[in-house]
This record gives sequence, C-alpha cells and structure tokens, in this order.
Amino acid sequence: MSHLLVDALLRIGGVGDMSLPKSAGSFVRVALGLVLVALSLPVTLCGQIALYFATRRAFPGLKNTAFKIVAVRAELSRMGLRADPLSEALLRSLPWASPLVCRAAFGYLQLISAFGIRWHKYPLAGADLHNVPWRDVVALRTQLIDATLRESDATQLVILGAGFDTRALLPLSSMARRFEVDFPPTQAAKRAAVAAAGIDQDGAVTFVAVDFNKDSWLDKLVEAGFDPKQKAVFVWEGVTYYLTPEAVSSTVRLIAQCCSGTTVVLDYFTQELVRAELFPFISRALRAAGEPLLFGLGEAADDDAQRAWTEEHGLELKKHLPGGSKGARWGGVLSATVA
Ligand SMILES: C[S@@+](CC[C@H](N)C(=O)[O-])C[C@H]1O[C@@H](n2cnc3c(N)ncnc32)[C@H](O)[C@@H]1O
Repeated sequence: MSHLLVDALLRIGGVGDMSLPKSAGSFVRVALGLVLVALSLPVTLCGQIALYFATRRAFPGLKNTAFKIVAVRAELSRMGLRADPLSEALLRSLPWASPLVCRAAFGYLQLISAFGIRWHKYPLAGADLHNVPWRDVVALRTQLIDATLRESDATQLVILGAGFDTRALLPLSSMARRFEVDFPPTQAAKRAAVAAAGIDQDGAVTFVAVDFNKDSWLDKLVEAGFDPKQKAVFVWEGVTYYLTPEAVSSTVRLIAQCCSGTTVVLDYFTQELVRAELFPFISRALRAAGEPLLFGLGEAADDDAQRAWTEEHGLELKKHLPGGSKGARWGGVLSATVA
C-alpha cells in the first residue's frame, strides 16, 4: 500500500514544483502530501520492523544505514535528477524479505525523500554547492563524487564501505578495474540483492570483505588484484564518522602510499555533530540504531582544519565543499590527491 501512496503523492499535480506553499492550490497539495505521509506511517513501521528482523536473521551485523542512502539515490533516479536505475531495482527485490515487506519498508523513506528532494529542489545539476544546509547532504556528496569519477583518468575505482552504492556498475567512469570493499555482512547482502535483481555484473566488480576497525584492508585489496602503482580513485561516502579516528587516519595514510595522482573523495561530519552539540537527534538516533558516530573532522567554526588534516595525512586537498553556514558547519565533502 505504501508504494501506492508514494505514487499518488508523486502524481498529485505539482508536487515537483513544491517550494513553499504560495497559493491556495499549492497549500492543498502540500497538505494532501502530508496526509499521505501520515497514512503510510503505520505500513512503513510494520515494513521496517519486518525487514529489520528478516535482515538480522539473514545477515547478522549488517549496517542498516546503507539502506537509507540507496533509498535517496533511488528517489533521485525516479525523479529524473540522476540516472541510477540499479538503485531502484535493488530496493524492489531484497531476496531475504518478501516484496511486500520491501515495498512497505521503503515506502516511507521514498515519501520522505520525495518530499525533501522535490520540496527543496535538490541542487544536483552543476549548482553552486557551497554552504548547503543539512537537508542537501546527499546532494552535496553525490555532486562531488560523481564529478570526480567523470573527470578522472585513473584506471582503478575502489569504493570503500560500498553498501548498496551502484557506482561501480554505472557508466560514470571509464575505470577498467573496480573494487568494492565493505563490512562482510553488508557486502554479502549487497551481492545477494544484486543477483536477485538480475543485475549483470559480468565480473565487472571485485568484492573485498573487511572490517576497517580491525583489518588491513589494503593488503586484502592488493591480494584481490588492486595495483597501488596504477592511479586509482577511492570513494568513501557515508562511512568515516562510523569508524574510530585511528581507523580513519590509518585508511587515509594507506591511500597516501598509493601512486601519485591517486585521489580519495570522502565526506565527514564536524566534531560538534559527532558530539551531538549540533542536530543532536541525528547522533542520538544513530547511536540508538547501533551505529554511533565516532569520528569528526574539524570544529564547526574552523574552515582550515580539512586542508591541515589532509596534508598531515600525506595528501593534497583538491576540492572542498563545506556544509552549513560559515561558523556553524555540520560537515562537508572533500577530494584529496597523492602528490
Ligand atoms: C551509510 S553506509 C554507506 C554506504 C555507501 N557508501 C553509500 O553511499 O551508499 C555505511 C557503510 O560503511 C560500512 N562500514 C561501516 N563500518 C564499517 C567497518 N568497520 N568496516 C567496513 N565497513 C564498514 C557499512 O557496511 C556500510 O556499507
């Protein structure tokens, strides 16, 4: 039922143009949309609970936050803002849960994304993404990551903490060798979902299972065929803040050992957000969900910390898109290169 509500919401004329309700007509549309969101809530809650237990049974230890991001990317695709049909396909058919449970579980996320994306007109297409608010967090990092892949002449792509990211399977880059490195249960679930969705990987991606907090991931990556002497792009989206500061530092230092021109693109939160001084509901909700925020980069008032941090780790900062207003940063996304 939830997906029917989503479709209904998207079809209510003009949802796509929802800025703030200016006329009586748009006010009615927004009000109707909110009613649909409210109506879908019980269905979604049941779906999320059923999916949580089905997933826990099939893949104990899986990081559930991975679902949230792919749901936003699926919605971006559905709305024609960024082509990613594979994200949409993945969420339709998680093989360890019934299609009904998937529909119910993701319906609400879709509604929220639909509202957020349409309401705020996600600034994806070449928009100026400096000082963006929290609501555009996924737009901010998607913009820089996709651009980095498109513009790179590297021959290897490594997605660290890949979750349900489909970039390794999308025609975003010309990189011949593609690797996904992830926590074993999340990776096992992703592989099962990709197979069940009938997505043909045709050996395009090499999967490497690691725990960043424990394993030497570069050794495992090299064993799997990665060549540190060939230029690579490392994508590290939505992961740093879940790791210990030591694990983040050692990962970046390992990247700095790869050949000149190798690039990492990563997003981070500031210390204030990690310490729950900024948007406390975010860090509290994540802690309650068993994925506490551990690593923060720089203070909310310090715009120089990111350059100093990358240099300290042996990299040169290339691009930095900070999020939030000056003096009150919640985080950002940066790319840095081995000199
Ligand atoms: C929020 S998801 C982001 C997924 C993906 N990068 C994306 O943008 O869709 C966090 C990812 O980090 C991975 N992760 C978290 N802690 C990890 C750890 N200790 N070792 C390896 N991967 C980890 C999870 O398995 C999950 O895939």
